[in-house]
Amino acid sequence: MITYNERERIFKLDTPDTTYMIGIVDEENFIGHIYYGKRLKEAEASYLMRTQEPPFVPSTNNRERCSFYDCFPFEYPTSGVGDYREGCIGIRTAAGHVGSMLSYVSHEILEGKPELEGLPATFGSEQDCMTLKLICEDRHVGMQVELLYTVFHDTDVITRSAKVTNTGREYFYLTKICSACIDMDNRDFDMISLHGSWARERHIQRKALGYGIQSVSSCRGESSHQDHPFLALADKHATQENGEIYAMNFVYSGNFRAQAEVTQFDSVRMTMGIHPENFCWKLECGESFQAPEAVMVYTDKGFDAMTQTFHRLYRKHLIRGEYKDKKRPILINNWEATYFDFNTDKLLSIAREASKLGIEMLVMDDGWFGNRSSDNCALGDWKVNENKINGGLKYLVDEVNKLGMKFGIWFEPEMISPDSDLYRAHPDWAFAIPGRPGTESRQQFVLDLSRQEIVDYIYEQVASVLRSANIEYVKWDMNRQLTDIGSCGLPADRQGELYHRYVLAVYQMQDRLTREFPHLLLENCSGGGARFDPGMLYYSPQIWCSDDTDAIERLEIQEGTALIYPLSTIGAHVSDCPNHTVGRVTPFETRGIVALAGTFGYELDVTKIPVEDREMIPAQVAMYHKYNDLIREGDYYRIASYAQNRKYDCWQVVSGDKKQALVTFVQVMNRANFKSRRILLKGLDGEKRYRVEFVNDDSVEDQIYSGDTLMKAGLLVPNPWGDFKARLISLTEA
Ligand code: GLA
Repeated sequence: MITYNERERIFKLDTPDTTYMIGIVDEENFIGHIYYGKRLKEAEASYLMRTQEPPFVPSTNNRERCSFYDCFPFEYPTSGVGDYREGCIGIRTAAGHVGSMLSYVSHEILEGKPELEGLPATFGSEQDCMTLKLICEDRHVGMQVELLYTVFHDTDVITRSAKVTNTGREYFYLTKICSACIDMDNRDFDMISLHGSWARERHIQRKALGYGIQSVSSCRGESSHQDHPFLALADKHATQENGEIYAMNFVYSGNFRAQAEVTQFDSVRMTMGIHPENFCWKLECGESFQAPEAVMVYTDKGFDAMTQTFHRLYRKHLIRGEYKDKKRPILINNWEATYFDFNTDKLLSIAREASKLGIEMLVMDDGWFGNRSSDNCALGDWKVNENKINGGLKYLVDEVNKLGMKFGIWFEPEMISPDSDLYRAHPDWAFAIPGRPGTESRQQFVLDLSRQEIVDYIYEQVASVLRSANIEYVKWDMNRQLTDIGSCGLPADRQGELYHRYVLAVYQMQDRLTREFPHLLLENCSGGGARFDPGMLYYSPQIWCSDDTDAIERLEIQEGTALIYPLSTIGAHVSDCPNHTVGRVTPFETRGIVALAGTFGYELDVTKIPVEDREMIPAQVAMYHKYNDLIREGDYYRIASYAQNRKYDCWQVVSGDKKQALVTFVQVMNRANFKSRRILLKGLDGEKRYRVEFVNDDSVEDQIYSGDTLMKAGLLVPNPWGDFKARLISLTEA
């Protein structure tokens, strides 16, 4: 619900349990942030903007105008005129000047949610949500800014974005743009972010917020392995079950910065936006720039509640397409099975064996095109290598289909190898700074997707392969970060637009792909999980989470990923041991149970793994079919974190009607002289009784307990014998 109290000049935005308030003050129409938190009854509290606190009263004390600017809680702060905190928007006029200040002009309140042109965004019908369009301007610059706020009626989410239009008589440059900002009093917050590296993505980091600026960011051209476009400020005492949290996540897949700045007056400014480094967008008269969307979640009920809110939003209002609410086919991918060493016979032998075990789709990974026999060459040459795929692609796909399996394929459309026919024909198609040698990474360059003819060419190459056979899945990879950001297609004063234009082009290509092939299951990937973000989720309902498939490494990676993203989106496979990344040997059973908390699939040569492992696959497949609806759609709770306790990991999913739940317990290292661990279950119905079944431990008999007891007093999990052991515990209403 969104209302405007005209007398008080207050906008009140309500979700089921939260309220967000914006006030217009003074004859100068400053737009201030009043409040964000638990739902309020009244549209009042404009005193929180502190405009009456001397000596900063704007109209009565013009002498201290600068001090006013520097402490007023701006809804969308600018810079260069007296607010010395980090602003949301930066401009440089034709004359080279940089200051700006926004004031309220008008507003509109709409049912539903407008789309953001060219960008992924959450969506909702007129029944689902309401939007406030707040128009403000800087007359001096000739700039209008449209701030968009959408409240969802079924989840405690507010989304925001901003659109800047040049309404003046001369061009200006946009040098910075954020999508969301909250100015509030610091409450001794902790800052929570997701940090990582290749094969170590999205580890949760929590630390105390101090004075000054603290940020997480990427200038790598993608959301990245290293930092994640997510930031939460939480009460220092916030736990999984309790405490206030303000979280922001960015629906964007390129450079970003998420920042918290604690000021001299103990206020905190939290912002999310495109990273300003190397960003400079020229706006000619009448032109607009649309910033991506930021998602804001507030809860006073701890991290489980925050997580469930993100999961619900993304499942219902972000992910689209045929597989939105559907079980995904269990796939087997040949990457870790064969790397580049495969041909039709090899793939068919894997498929034959896999189909007998109940696996439903074969995915042919990197190496099927051009003369790609290693990762040194051929990106861009999207023609089937018939020396390897002897008989042709259609023959292979048909043979796989005859086994009752679907077929999927790998592409890395955004890249070009210096050793490729494409590069030999078009050396100017890669990003490059003229005269400077390009920086290779994995022996490849990045295609200059700011040029539409290159986008069109690559799209056609990919699409014609997909049109040539019954291909039902694509893994869209992106295996290096951006450098040499220069395009011969743009004039000097538009080179600062390249990073963003690149991301827009990726979105455009994936949009075309999903429109032309509406039945395709698309899985994004980037050197593992470097582009696991809500922007990508808009196009693909699942994303490869990490190249590290070790079950124990995955605990931390999947915990951090599931902090925001539904389990249905997390690409997770069972691979062979010793694990190819860390050399660890874990039980096949544990690998299966950990992968079950994701999309579930295999990444191994099923003809070569030990017989005992292979024999377990049909039971794992059955487990997937039995529990996947619950895992995909259930509410997720974190019970214990191996990342924190260094002993064991435990999570749980509960069905919406609370009739079913599934608990996963992973003991990492066994302990001597330790019999059982008590875990407190969550989210059950205290009035219901549940049959508790230890799915993979016959030594424990089924028992019936009340939900109340299981949540308050707990359940005993007998200590498994050995390291890296997992237990799956199923609860059904008795
Ligand atoms: C990336 C992906 C892997 C695999 C390889 C192929 O690293 O994350 O899963 O597809 O590329 O080159």
